[in-house]
Amino acid sequence: MPAVLALETSCDESAAALVTEAGVVASALASQVEEHARWGGVVPEIASRRHLEALPGLIARVQRESGLSLAAIDAVAATVTPGLVGALLVGSVMGRTLARLHQKPFLGIHHLEGHLCSAWLEGDRPPMPHLVLLVSGGHSELLRVDRPGRYRRLGRSRDDAAGECFDKVARLLGLGYPGGPAIERAALGGDERRFAFPKGRVSLPDGGFHPYDFSFSGLKTAVGRQVRELEQAGGPLPLADLAASFQAVVGDVLVERSLRCAEAEGLDTLVVVGGVAANRRLRERLREQASARGIDWRVAPLAWCTDNAAMIGRAALERLAAGQTSPITLGVAARFPLEEADALYAESPCF
Ligand code: KG4
Ligand code: ZN
Repeated sequence: MPAVLALETSCDESAAALVTEAGVVASALASQVEEHARWGGVVPEIASRRHLEALPGLIARVQRESGLSLAAIDAVAATVTPGLVGALLVGSVMGRTLARLHQKPFLGIHHLEGHLCSAWLEGDRPPMPHLVLLVSGGHSELLRVDRPGRYRRLGRSRDDAAGECFDKVARLLGLGYPGGPAIERAALGGDERRFAFPKGRVSLPDGGFHPYDFSFSGLKTAVGRQVRELEQAGGPLPLADLAASFQAVVGDVLVERSLRCAEAEGLDTLVVVGGVAANRRLRERLREQASARGIDWRVAPLAWCTDNAAMIGRAALERLAAGQTSPITLGVAARFPLEEADALYAESPCF
């Protein structure tokens, strides 16, 4: 059974994992979140340095925990796009060096393909084709997946990503970084119907609204305006109600538009992945609404929603099974379309 060593360093989590077709054998993660929290966001230079320090120890740990030596694995994989270039370079160079040293194939992985595969790290693959709602710090997209490697984007955010919106609103409420978990905690016990925040509909040039594109920047502005009004009125901010009302509208919009998209495209399975998929209010809404509308749904296991290397290993196994490997000279790129991810396995490097 093929085993892959996978590395993830695209943003502020350093991670290594050993994955086989049977599941995750070992996974280790070093989060830099606390260090970046001081600055209110990720500082690229600090991220690269911390990856460089953390990765060797994480690789050693997954080897120890899995009992698998590098000689016994079948391939090495690393995230190569999208992300912070300096951060990606650390994982990519380490991955390619290990692959060359141990004469194993190397696979460069598209980070978003990793997120898509996170949904079947535990359990069966969802039926193909299916619809994926991918909601992370950098992306909010609806993707039709015909098979691993064949994707079509059906919807997207026109401005901020959902996770980015959580992060910005958390900063506005003085709740710290990363915003998603902070807002979820602050919302506990809050009244989600107290404030009616806008659902961010996207106008079409010929009138009407886009059925399933998202817009989150107006929502952030509306929360800001509400906070200023409340501050001017004096007294402590009703943080729990603000957080709960905000969290509810994001979850409702995401679930509502995803289900509409699935119905319109005749896709009867909806899969939700990415950091924001960890949100419990969103998960509850998905369960209620999808079941009510007869759409089969699944959401990535909580442990694999935010960035990790296991999902990168899962994506690498899919590519390996399709007979694909990357050239050892493949570089990294800040951005690259997911729809073109096949190019990472072309004979000559695409970047
Ligand atoms: O997938 P991810 O770890 O990294 C990217 O590839 O971007 O997603 C991180 C994002 C952050 O914006 C964070 O605030 C959000 O996911 N997030 C959450 C929750 N946990 C993380 N948003 C809402 N609720 C959560 N529980
Ligand atoms: Zn991610």
